[in-house]
Parts: sequence; C-alpha cells; structure tokens
Amino acid sequence: MRKKIAAANWKMNLLQNEGKALINQLLATLPPLSEARQVVIAPPFVQLSQAAQLLSGHAHIHAAAQNCATEQSGAYTGEVSAGMVKDAGAAYVIIGHSERREYYQEDNATLVKKSDIALANGLQVIFCCGEPLSIRDEGTQNNYVETQIREGLFHYDAAQLKNIVIAYEPIWAIGTGRTASAAQAQEMHAHIRSVIAGKFGHDAAADMSILYGGSVKAANAKELFSCPDVDGGLVGGASLVAEEFTGIIDAMVNC
Ligand code: PGA
Repeated sequence: MRKKIAAANWKMNLLQNEGKALINQLLATLPPLSEARQVVIAPPFVQLSQAAQLLSGHAHIHAAAQNCATEQSGAYTGEVSAGMVKDAGAAYVIIGHSERREYYQEDNATLVKKSDIALANGLQVIFCCGEPLSIRDEGTQNNYVETQIREGLFHYDAAQLKNIVIAYEPIWAIGTGRTASAAQAQEMHAHIRSVIAGKFGHDAAADMSILYGGSVKAANAKELFSCPDVDGGLVGGASLVAEEFTGIIDAMVNC
C-alpha cells in the first residue's frame, strides 16, 4: 500500500533524556495516524530501544535505525547488525543516506548488502538517493538517481519492493536551508516512479512511497507534500524541534 510518512532522522544528535523528552512531546500532540499515514523516528543506535519502548503503545509510529551492518553477526567491532536493530524494536532502517555514502564510502554494492540483510531480518528499508550539486548544475540528475535505484533496488522482486520506501534527498538541499522547489521535487519523484514502473510494473510503482528530504520544515512541508508523487518527508534538522516536526506530521496527515 502506498503510504505517507513523516520520518525523523536525528542523525548524531540528542542525548538519551533529550530524545525521551522529544518523543514524549511528539506523542502528546500526535494527530490520528493509520497504516496509510505513518510517523517514523530514527534516533542514534544507543537510543533505539528507548525510542521503541516509548512508541510501543502507539500504532503507526515506528522506531528506525539510521544504518545497519552488512553482516549478520560476528567479529565486526563497532558494527550493529540488522538483527539487533529488529530486536531493539525498530521497524525501519535508513540505508544509503548521502552522509553514509560520502563520509563512510558506502557504495551501491555495500548498500545492496545492507538492504538485503535488513529485509532478511524483517525490517523495512528507507532507501536514500539523490544527486550532488555538480550533477544538478550539469542537468544530469535524472540519470544519476536512476543509476542509484537501478544498482540499489533492481535485484529485488515486486514482493520485496513492498518493504522498501524511497527517499529522494538532493544533497545540495540537505542541512543547507536550500530546499528543492515543489516543482523540482515533483519532477524527480515522477521520474523515480517511472523508473520503478519500467522495471516492476505500474502497480508496484503506484504502491511505492517516495519521500522527499532536504531542509523540510513546518513552513514548506504542505507545499512539498501536496505534490502528487511526494509521499511525505525524511527530515533532519527540523525533526529535532517538537513544534517543527509536529507541523510536518500535520502536513503529512492532511495532504
Ligand atoms: P535536513 O536533513 O532536513 O536537515 O536537510 C535531511 C536528511 O538528511 O535526511
């Protein structure tokens, strides 16, 4: 089912008591959610169990990890496996965020391993794609993102695809305050949906949730989420402020 999602990516922010306070603030003002209108919160690993426990009595608001290991278990010092993420109570894992691709050299082959192992452990994957500014300036962003999707997702079948959400995050819009215009977002989201349709068929493409990320705020969420192919957002900075993220959740629910 195609669902709208407001997803919070806390990145490497907030201490345990701050994360707890933020979740409790969000829960206090949460509008009615449903299978088709979900909220996802991705704290740092060490707060995953706490977040999952705080959210456990509330339907359709889920904890997520920001990453997982490529391997199931073993001698991989410092890594956290998809099985551990699932065991902590998370429903989703973000794979292929541009910060992981850039700072930790995660290439498409690595991301395939991570998505495979996440799905095998019963997690849903939020698969990130998006172009740097140089590619946008060249005008080749459609091909660039298509290649990321081809190399990251084309080995799945339509059944596996049901457990994947795509997040389009133009790198030039992440944390910069420079948001893609609604027209730019819609154009790329429609392109992504057509790429999915070309490989998996129209039903799978119609079912695919495609989130926009990059300087989403309460003030611009409604305009972005009103685009026909934008199914919500993956939000960094604004997800750390309760009033901002609540505004974004409201926009997601009402669009
Ligand atoms: P931002 O980050 O909302 O701070 O731009 C988005 C993201 O990186 O997911």
